[in-house]
Amino acid sequence: MDDRPIGVFDSGIGGLSCVAPLKKLLPGEKILFFGDTARVPYGSKSDATIISYSLQIADYLAGQGAKALVIACNTISAVAIGAIRGAYPDIPVVGIVEPAARRTAELLRGGKKAGLIATRATVNNGAYRKAVKAVLPGAELPAMACPLFVPIVEEGLADSDIARLTASHYLDVFVRDNGLDTLVLGCTHYPFLADTLRSVFPELDLVDPAECLAEEAARVLDEKDLLAELGANADKPDVFYASAISGAFTETVDAVTGGADYDILQHHF
Ligand code: DGL
Repeated sequence: MDDRPIGVFDSGIGGLSCVAPLKKLLPGEKILFFGDTARVPYGSKSDATIISYSLQIADYLAGQGAKALVIACNTISAVAIGAIRGAYPDIPVVGIVEPAARRTAELLRGGKKAGLIATRATVNNGAYRKAVKAVLPGAELPAMACPLFVPIVEEGLADSDIARLTASHYLDVFVRDNGLDTLVLGCTHYPFLADTLRSVFPELDLVDPAECLAEEAARVLDEKDLLAELGANADKPDVFYASAISGAFTETVDAVTGGADYDILQHHF
């Protein structure tokens, strides 16, 4: 048993889509969340920049006493997980891509025609495709980068004509030419666009990997005997750090915490 907080982080608001599934599976844990809203997006930056920013966040959360690092960001998981694990060999580091790719492989094995949508860095890096092929050699996973989705979500425009037009722009041909029936949301910002995507592509099933991340985090904490005692953190509010606090960040924190106590604080590098 270990009552220290878990560090959960993303380039911005997107990682907040993983908070409710994490709280559901890990009700005893206190969360220290970091969203690097001052430097988002990461997905259009170089690998070296993504790694350097990610290590700064990991360092900050480890310095705040995080007992584990949960990467609620596909881009950081795809590009920087090795560097983070190397820098913190004594802290478990849980990424979203590996468990999400296993779920994707299950769907493909079951006959689904799934495609991946993600940031440019995640698509170019190929981590999903590699992880899917490790489970299901020979599997096909068409992938499409949708870089404008992230600023749309950060601006609080997820339910707007701009979002619907952008979805059509990126995905009409991609979905049709690949005969897709399923889209894997390979960026944690994209679940905030789920209603918009459903309105443009009502025939598609959407897969949000947040639950896969929560299951993996719960498994790893349990395996390492790092779970908090239920109730031990009851009077400690979760803390949500942003490197630039925006209206959309504050509103989204409020929406995902479901009435529980929390603090919002600013920290920039
Ligand atoms: N939310 C992130 C992801 O899951 C990154 C978005 C970005 O900063 O480009 O990939």
